[in-house]
Amino acid sequence: MTDPSKNKTFAASNALLKQALATIPTGSQTFSKSHIQFPDGHAPLFVDRAQGAHFTDIDGNVFVDLAMGLAAIGLGYCDPDVDAAIREQLACGISFSLPTRLEAELAELIVDVVPSAEMVRFAKNGSDVTSAAVRLARAYTGRERVLACGYHGWHDWYIGTTTRDLGVPGSVRVLTDRASANDPETVATKLAEHPDGFAAIIVEPMLLDNPKAALSEIRALANRSGAVLIFDEVVTGFRFALGGAQQLYGVTPDLTCLGKSMANGMPLSAVTGRRDIMRLMEDIFFSGTFGGEALSLAASLATIRKIRKQGVVEHLWAMGGRLQTRLRQTIAKYGLGDLLSVMNEPCLGFIAVSEGRGNSQAVNRTFMLAEMIRHGVFMNGSLTICHAFGEEDLQKVAEAFDSFAERFSRELEIPGLEARLPYPPITPIFTVRAPNAEKEG
Ligand SMILES: Cc1ncc(COP(=O)(O)O)c(C=O)c1O
Repeated sequence: MTDPSKNKTFAASNALLKQALATIPTGSQTFSKSHIQFPDGHAPLFVDRAQGAHFTDIDGNVFVDLAMGLAAIGLGYCDPDVDAAIREQLACGISFSLPTRLEAELAELIVDVVPSAEMVRFAKNGSDVTSAAVRLARAYTGRERVLACGYHGWHDWYIGTTTRDLGVPGSVRVLTDRASANDPETVATKLAEHPDGFAAIIVEPMLLDNPKAALSEIRALANRSGAVLIFDEVVTGFRFALGGAQQLYGVTPDLTCLGKSMANGMPLSAVTGRRDIMRLMEDIFFSGTFGGEALSLAASLATIRKIRKQGVVEHLWAMGGRLQTRLRQTIAKYGLGDLLSVMNEPCLGFIAVSEGRGNSQAVNRTFMLAEMIRHGVFMNGSLTICHAFGEEDLQKVAEAFDSFAERFSRELEIPGLEARLPYPPITPIFTVRAPNAEKEG
């Protein structure tokens, strides 16, 4: 396959990858940011800087970013209000020997906006707080078994349920089962398999066909079985609605996990929920040196206040809705509906890619990523936009997708796309969500 004129060069990225691989396994701290997840030699691998909805790679290529730091950025890179709050706190210090007033202030704000929140504890990563929620549920119920419906992070209790379970003891693996929140029947079946009961059902409340009905049914199943219902809103929090998916769908869990965009890129997560369960924090052990780190707390206060005041969620829904419509029109225009579909709520879409027309899913998906990158749009399969994503960005993504779809439809007419690709198909880390939506850990 000849590479057309729009080719970007990634010489600096490829050179730095070689250097990084000598001292950093996978060359990255996050699987989904690692070179193994992008078309080899045809993708940026390292960022130099970012602003608004864009980033510049170390070769000087500029991209509209549809991954937004794996959904860690909701407002935009270098948001002026959040950055000002970070600078103001920086002048007073970062980490201290005692808590600061920021902790109570942010806890009160979260209690104000998240329906299930009565008490709050902070940590750094989503995995910290999903694991804390599971420990709380075990302490509260006196039971050990957990039912997981989604992706919940890297810790043993969860990752032991995936194919990436190397290093997880069998005695831990057997305590977690998997079910699909999209099919509450599978939840009911799993609950019935273990009459001694589950401590928790943990659900990622997105990518559901009929979310309100499914979540209500799972809420009822948790009530009947005595399991603590945990919503993992690490992605959906402050994005589906100010109060998360639970507010949007009107279903309140017992505990909620928050993270990602709550501090617009600063490392912060939170577990919150019913006072009687959260009070068990006094008896279990959940404690870390950096839980009260002040720059992230200040950033989160500024982020949530801005989301509340400036119609951020409304913007994500409106822009995301228009983007999804444009992409669906393009899919229909080129007759690609058998291979591509746009899914999830407008505020956070995904493009699901299927196998077909003689190609594996990986071949079709890798071709899409490479073509979008070639046209200046960085994507990992999600349509994660931010408040700074504007009209020009919408236009650029729609045009890039049209160019990809036009070329894809031509390439599909000639058998053997894989053999013509100048890069190997990307192997997914593992599939944990709906069909073809790979994890983003
Ligand atoms: C729904 C969900 N829960 C938990 C996590 C884990 O968060 P972290 O990677 O910050 O530990 C992720 C990360 O992608 C996630 O998407």
